[in-house]
Amino acid sequence: MYPVEAPVAYPRSQWYVAGYGEEFTQKVFGRLILGDRIIFYRTADGAPVALSGRCVHRFMPLENAELKNDLVVCPYHGYSYGKTGQCQSIPTGGAISKHARLRRYPLVERGPLVWIWMGDPDKLQMERLPNPVEIGLGDGQSDWCVVIAKTFSMKARAGLLVDNLFDLSHLAFIHSQSLPGAGSLVMVPPKIETVDGRLRVSRVIPKMEFEPGSGLDRTIPVARQHGAVYCLLHTEMYNPCLIPSSGPWVYSLTADGQPDKLIASLNFVHIVTPETEHSTHYFGVVTRNYELDNDELSTIQMTQTDKVRAEDVICLEAIEQTIDGDESSRREISTKVDEGSIAARRILRNLIKSELEVA
Ligand code: FES
Ligand SMILES: [Fe+2]
Repeated sequence: MYPVEAPVAYPRSQWYVAGYGEEFTQKVFGRLILGDRIIFYRTADGAPVALSGRCVHRFMPLENAELKNDLVVCPYHGYSYGKTGQCQSIPTGGAISKHARLRRYPLVERGPLVWIWMGDPDKLQMERLPNPVEIGLGDGQSDWCVVIAKTFSMKARAGLLVDNLFDLSHLAFIHSQSLPGAGSLVMVPPKIETVDGRLRVSRVIPKMEFEPGSGLDRTIPVARQHGAVYCLLHTEMYNPCLIPSSGPWVYSLTADGQPDKLIASLNFVHIVTPETEHSTHYFGVVTRNYELDNDELSTIQMTQTDKVRAEDVICLEAIEQTIDGDESSRREISTKVDEGSIAARRILRNLIKSELEVA
């Protein structure tokens, strides 16, 4: 399914972000993920739970169900379900079939994110769960500032967003106002490589002189003390859902002008969870490992990412309109600068293909 050359839109045997930990409370909420209607809540002992969101009795949706003593109570006739999904009681009596159960989806809470395994629960692969310590979203990391940005309900397929995130040549156009100066950056040729098993598309500014009032000054003030720094701007794919862009990673320079120590890491983390084949939950997080308590900086960075992402959403929703129902429109004209996006598509295609071969 365009833009990925595969019969389906996304791989299922993967971990996707279901939401932020702070959304999980003792109140049930619902979300469609990969076309599955799912309900979420947190038990009294703090464990997040995900169950299929349709009652087995007469198919009532459960996203507005009440949670009573950790049991989800269907609003229609009161069947109640425990955290394993098994029906625990039927108010009108009668035997409870062992088939009276909701599907349980495995969840893992890691940092501010709750991840859901969307594949067969019996074939769960923990090794596929990202542990992104490099961007402060790994297990038990507290020495990072993590800012939660806006969640967009994007009426466009996830593949278009993945494509967009690895395509920096659009910065000079749709983000010309929100990212001034980015236009010249895209003239720097990108490097496409695999680092620690992850696709990385990067651009380097070998020596950026510090200028008061510049973008670097505003967003990474810690660079001030260094005069000139080495900047790495890169986008990586941890898995189909987690695609951070550095903004940038800043290194000090050795006396002979080589990158030395990483002095600041700023990350605009894009989280791409397909809602359906034609819509996407686009979560966003900004992480940094400096000026942890600087709320003003957090606001600047969050406002910036929300503005930039809103521009992408408008663009991708417009593209979705032109291709929806016209899957033959695959003959694109690409150039060298599109290689990053094409590499990302290839990864998605191979993941989908290998799943379909096993099935
Ligand atoms: S539909 Fe849920 S109890 Fe009847
Ligand atoms: Fe963009």
